[in-house]
Amino acid sequence: MREHGVLRRCILAWRETAGRLRMEPEDVDASALNDSAKLFRSFGEDYHEKKLEEAHIFPRVRHAVAGGAASVSVLMAQHVRGREITDYILSVTGGAHVSAADAEMLARAFDAFDVMYANHMAREDTIVFQAWKDQLSPAEFAEMGNLFETIERAEFGGDGFDDAVRRIAAIEEKLGLTNLAQFTAPRAPARSAVAQ
Ligand SMILES: [Fe+2]
Ligand SMILES: [Fe+2]
Repeated sequence: MREHGVLRRCILAWRETAGRLRMEPEDVDASALNDSAKLFRSFGEDYHEKKLEEAHIFPRVRHAVAGGAASVSVLMAQHVRGREITDYILSVTGGAHVSAADAEMLARAFDAFDVMYANHMAREDTIVFQAWKDQLSPAEFAEMGNLFETIERAEFGGDGFDDAVRRIAAIEEKLGLTNLAQFTAPRAPARSAVAQ
């Protein structure tokens, strides 16, 4: 499920932007946020969630993953909540800047989306997709791979993943998030001899 990597990069851009919206909303390029919400809608919600997970994966694992850790009904509810938040992001990022009146609420929406979707994808990656794979014979698994590729080509008229990676890279460029080194953590604090 390489789609998750693109969606993570959208959400990482939103997480970075939440802090800027609180400090200097007029410096945030709203068009980049609008582009990222459109990308999340087309690649994440309309394709990855609806065409793959909801159509082919969730129905096969509904009983296998029942429980608090990753129930299909909660995953579905989170898809719905995500779409509501994406609608909201699109509605407040149509101009050149996010208005001062919307900045704090948008920052909170980004924070909440980040927490929800990080948990959502981590459970899908480690529980749901594994359970799904366990249900399939090697032949069925290969067949599903071909089907997913056919769906991707029908949805995007080509390699949707490559196009999505290009789009998120352009968004990161606009927001000044291209350089990976900027995210390297500072050194860990030195501990005193007494504390050790
Ligand atoms: Fe999902
Ligand atoms: Fe997913």
